[in-house]
Amino acid sequence: MMKVTIIGAGPGAPDLITVRGLKRLQEAEVVLYADSLVSDELIAEAKSGAEIVKTAGMHLEEMVELMAARCHEGKKVVRVHTGDPAVYGAILEQIALLREAGVEVEIIPGVSSVFASAAAVGAELTVPDLTQTVILTRAEGRTPVPDGEKLKDLASHGCTVALFLSATLTKKVVREFLNAGWSEETPVAVVYKATWPDQKVVRSTLKNLDEDMRKNGIRKQAMILAGWALDEQIYEKNYRSKLYDKEFTHGFRRGAPK
Ligand SMILES: C[S@@+](CC[C@H](N)C(=O)[O-])C[C@H]1O[C@@H](n2cnc3c(N)ncnc32)[C@H](O)[C@@H]1O
Repeated sequence: MMKVTIIGAGPGAPDLITVRGLKRLQEAEVVLYADSLVSDELIAEAKSGAEIVKTAGMHLEEMVELMAARCHEGKKVVRVHTGDPAVYGAILEQIALLREAGVEVEIIPGVSSVFASAAAVGAELTVPDLTQTVILTRAEGRTPVPDGEKLKDLASHGCTVALFLSATLTKKVVREFLNAGWSEETPVAVVYKATWPDQKVVRSTLKNLDEDMRKNGIRKQAMILAGWALDEQIYEKNYRSKLYDKEFTHGFRRGAPK
């Protein structure tokens, strides 16, 4: 069966692709990639003679026609996406059209920028007794979000919130969180270009977020992580999981009696 492989490239650093993703890239005869977001150093791993296609200036039908045509010629085709393709990757529409063209799709996951950003700030996003939930979302800008998914409604859970595609919308983000009852002192960590050589980390609060974004000139490729899991003092607050609690019994370990 003819197939296109969609590969998650990871957040930026070329060595954060998976072993499987790298193998498919190195075997490919045709490589399409979003040149504004995937590192050229990674694409240089493709074999010599491979056809390399930058897709930033292409529309959906052009991309799909090219991928389908090369598959029909019997070539190995990969499409490299930033982070993990399942989050804001716009892969659904590609898969639908490829299937119509008789081409199957294999997806290889990648490290999403949300997790690369958490790593950059040394955070656990699910802190025992504080929050056990992470919401991955975006602020509403030119692209609407469905009813029931407005930031104010999502923020009402008080959990960790990770905002993609929202760097230019911080005024609105702050307003929505405050309207949901969050305090102005709530910690926010912004990671610009996580794992790229020019990565920048900005520690802020809801009160200062908009100003800090402006001061640091961050208007794109930024992950905004908000909530008390991002508290810089969290290490001193003694949150402990049950998993390694010496008195807690689970499937792999009997807890010591109190
Ligand atoms: C179209 S979405 C793609 C997300 C991607 N699929 C992922 O899993 O990270 C682009 C948004 O992801 C975030 N993003 C992507 N790469 C990033 C990075 N290296 N550092 C911080 N944020 C990043 C930004 O919020 C950016 O606006």
